[in-house]
Formats: sequence, C-alpha cells, structure tokens
Amino acid sequence: MKIAVAKGDGIGPEIMDAVLTIFNANKVPLEYENVEMGKWVFDKGFSNGMTPEAQQSIESLGILFKGPMETPKGKGVKSVNVTARKTWNTYANKRVFQTLHGVDTVFSKAGIPIDLTIVRENIEDTYGGIEHMLTHDVALSRRFITRPGSLQVIKYAFEMASKNGARRITCGHKANIMKITDGLFLEVFYEVAKDYPNLKADDVIVDDLCMKLVSRPQEFDVVVLTNLQGDIVSDLCAGLVGGLGFAPSANIGDHICIFEAVHGTAPDIAGRNIANPTALLLSGIAMLRHLGLMENAAVIENALLYTLESGVHTGDFGDKNIASVNTTQFAEAIIGNLGKTPAHGARPLLPNKPVTPTVFKLAENPLIITQELENEQVVGVDFFIESTEQPNAVAEKCLRHTGDLFKLVNVSNRGTQVWPKGSVFTNMVNQYGCRFESVGEANVTQTDILELYKKLAQDFKVCSTELLNKWGDKKAYSLAQGQ
Ligand code: NAI
Repeated sequence: MKIAVAKGDGIGPEIMDAVLTIFNANKVPLEYENVEMGKWVFDKGFSNGMTPEAQQSIESLGILFKGPMETPKGKGVKSVNVTARKTWNTYANKRVFQTLHGVDTVFSKAGIPIDLTIVRENIEDTYGGIEHMLTHDVALSRRFITRPGSLQVIKYAFEMASKNGARRITCGHKANIMKITDGLFLEVFYEVAKDYPNLKADDVIVDDLCMKLVSRPQEFDVVVLTNLQGDIVSDLCAGLVGGLGFAPSANIGDHICIFEAVHGTAPDIAGRNIANPTALLLSGIAMLRHLGLMENAAVIENALLYTLESGVHTGDFGDKNIASVNTTQFAEAIIGNLGKTPAHGARPLLPNKPVTPTVFKLAENPLIITQELENEQVVGVDFFIESTEQPNAVAEKCLRHTGDLFKLVNVSNRGTQVWPKGSVFTNMVNQYGCRFESVGEANVTQTDILELYKKLAQDFKVCSTELLNKWGDKKAYSLAQGQ
C-alpha cells in the first residue's frame, strides 16, 4: 500500500522523520510518496498551498499523512489545512484522548482515567471564512450548518461509537441560542439516534459540557459537535490528557482521509530537534488501524506507552528531575521498546487485516440533497441597511416604501428589536435589520422583493439581504430578541 506524505513546515519534517523511522523499524508494510504541500508551496505561487501533482497523488492514493503546515499571515491566503479538509470532504474530525501513563496531569494524579473521543464536524460552520465588512463598524461571518453535512458527520459518529462498543454518545451544541443552525444539527443527531436504540444518546449545551468535561470527564465517551465548538472543546480535552503534544487527529471522508497532529508548526522550537513527536505518532497509529495494520499499530503503541511509563520524555512534558531527550532520541527509545508491553493500558495484538487501498476517479462533484421540501413560500425579506439615525427615523423611512404587498414588522440592531418596541438602553451600531413580511403571509416573488429593494435604496445603503422562507407552517428564520 502506498500513501501520500507531506512533512509540513516548522517542526513538521523533524517529527515526521521520527515517526517514519519508528514505522520502518517495525517494518510497517507501507510505501510513502512525498507530496508538495505547505508554506513553501504558497511561496512558489500555488494559492491553495499544494501543487497540482500533489493534489493528483493524494486523490489517487486516498490517504494523506501530514505534518503541521503554516498559514501565511495576511494577503487573504486561506489555511492549507482547512482547504485540504474541505476540498476532499473529510467531514468528520476524530480526536481520541486517553490517559497516558508517564504524562502527569491533575486527573492522572487523582486516579481519574480519561478515555474520550471527540467527533468534530470538519468542513462547515464559520470555517468557510465567508466574511464581509457591512459597514466600517460591522463585520459579518456566515455560518453554514447543512442537513447533509450534519448527517454525514453524525452518522459517522454513531457508527464509530456503536462499532467500538461506546456506552454513551453526546451532542454538544448551543441550540438554545442558535435555534436554527445548532437546532438543525441537534435535530439530525436525534434523527440518526433512532437507528441506534442500544446506544445512550443525549445532548448537553456546550458551555455546560466544558464545565462537566473538566469536573467529571469520566462520564463522557463519544461527543459530537459542530466545527468551531468542536475545535475549542477538543483542545480543552487535549489539556485533560497533557496538552497538544498528545492530541492526534483523523480527518475522515468517504474517499480521502487525512491523519495529522492537532498542534501547529511550533515555530518557536522549529529546527532544534526538540519537538515531541507523540501526537503525530498517535495520528500515524490511528492511520495504521484505519488501513487494517492492527498488529503494527498495537506493537508501536505499546512501545510508545512503555517508553512514556519508563519516564523518557521530551522537554515539553514529564518529570523535570529526569533529563529530557531530543526528538531523535525519543524515537530511538520507542524503537528500542518495540515488542515490550506497558504495565498500564496495553493494546491487544490483533492480526493485520488486508484492506484495499482506495483508488477512485470521480467523474463529477457529488451534490448531496437530503429531502425535497413541499409548500415552500417566500413570505418576506430582511434588509440589512446602514444608518446612523435613531430607530424611529429608520422605521419611518421604511414605512414609506412598504406598498400593498409588504408590512414592516420590526427593526433590529445586532439582533435585538429596537422598533416598534425597544429600550433606550440598547446599545446600537450603524447597521439595522429591517424585516418586511408579506401582507397575510402571501407568497411574494423575487421581482416583488427587487422592487422593494429599489425603493429602499433611495433612502439607505442596503448592505445585505435574506429571504424569509416558510415551509408549510414552519418559519425558516429566527425572531429578533424582544420580538
Ligand atoms: P502551535 O501548536 O504550533 O504551538 C503552540 C505552542 O505549543 C508552542 O509553544 C509550541 O512550541 C508548542 N508545541 C506545539 N507542538 C509541539 C510539539 N509537538 N512538541 C513540543 N511543543 C509543541 O500553535 P501556533 O503557534 O498557534 O501556530 C503556529 C503555526 O501552525 C501557525 O502558522 C498555524 O497556522 C499553524 N497551525 C497548523 C495546524 C495544522 O497544520 N494542522 C494546526 C494549528 C496551527
């Protein structure tokens, strides 16, 4: 089997070399094709951070093992890490956090074992980075949560939890505030849960989840979250087991999977051969299991656990009374321990299972739609306009343009209603949301809305527009606070 390897930037080449040396010492039956990705590829003029040849190799091999990569600051350049995950639809980010003996944490000292898996949605949410300045004072980020996107990741989380004999699966969310976006994610979670009656499925609001993960981490097993919340919660979990140096990650898609450490390029220690390769090694071990190389994975993981237990450590962790070793020496210690069994948490030696590497050619991009909706109507429009006037003055101008088709329902500022009722204590900025609903909730056409737009534009700069959809009896838009 051949896989694509991108060593990455900063400490990437040092830790990748350490990991591949360990793989070779264990005679892992893999061939590696080095591909060009990372900061230096941006610098050569490839705006997505990878060469066309690299993209072609990864798409035909199906597996990318990568080191961390630097995102050049400014210049509107997007992160190659995020681009790779989105381009290849690696919709689930799986991060396993387990107590490692030899890595002291408050929990290990208290004898509280940690064994948690976070599944983070990996391609949607605010990570589209679709952002605009609407006025000089007001920035807007679009947050996409889709039904197909949520279904993919949640189905993966349930399937993985059920196969691994998990006792509980929890959805972390903020649906109490983001009723439509997080509400959709949560709705899909419970839809999928119906297919897994033997798995205890529940949900916890994300702030409460953070508190509970820190105070009673042993109560959780698999936790699934949207992208940004999952990013934050998984770093919190990394802290529970000793920090980012111990946090592996697998980006799972139907065709292409990317295995990488959670941490970045650590520019402050790059080139000194002192970085901790454990997180990348754990990611590599997860990759071996994904490829059916179960015995290789267990032998290497046992050697790693044995090495940690024996007190060998790089400078970023471990007993300060024992001198630290460098990256190369750490890898050599693990190689010296291949075949040894740790006292705690030894992994069973399952035989390797042959698997067929994924080689595929898709003829066209798949477009995924989960359901056709009936009774779809457009019953109004939100215009976001720039103005420095008071709400009454804004409303007065809006009311001049409603005509026979529309009525002005409310004016809001930063999502809080300021007209027809409001409070003088609400702080405002120079952008209002003006909600026009159709009279009698009649269906209106886009041309009707354009006519209203033209009239409104005589009085205001219109910054942004959203249609008010209604499906059957269900309003597909949120109310303003106070409405
Ligand atoms: P970072 O994770 O690179 O570093 C944070 C701190 O952790 C630093 O003090 C660093 O020395 C330490 N650290 C990280 N990994 C370590 C290791 N293996 N051994 C010992 N110490 C380690 O995060 P930072 O500084 O925010 O980002 C640096 C660059 O990495 C940025 O360009 C960022 O865009 C990129 N990055 C790339 C990621 C990826 O490729 N998946 C993920 C996160 C950041």
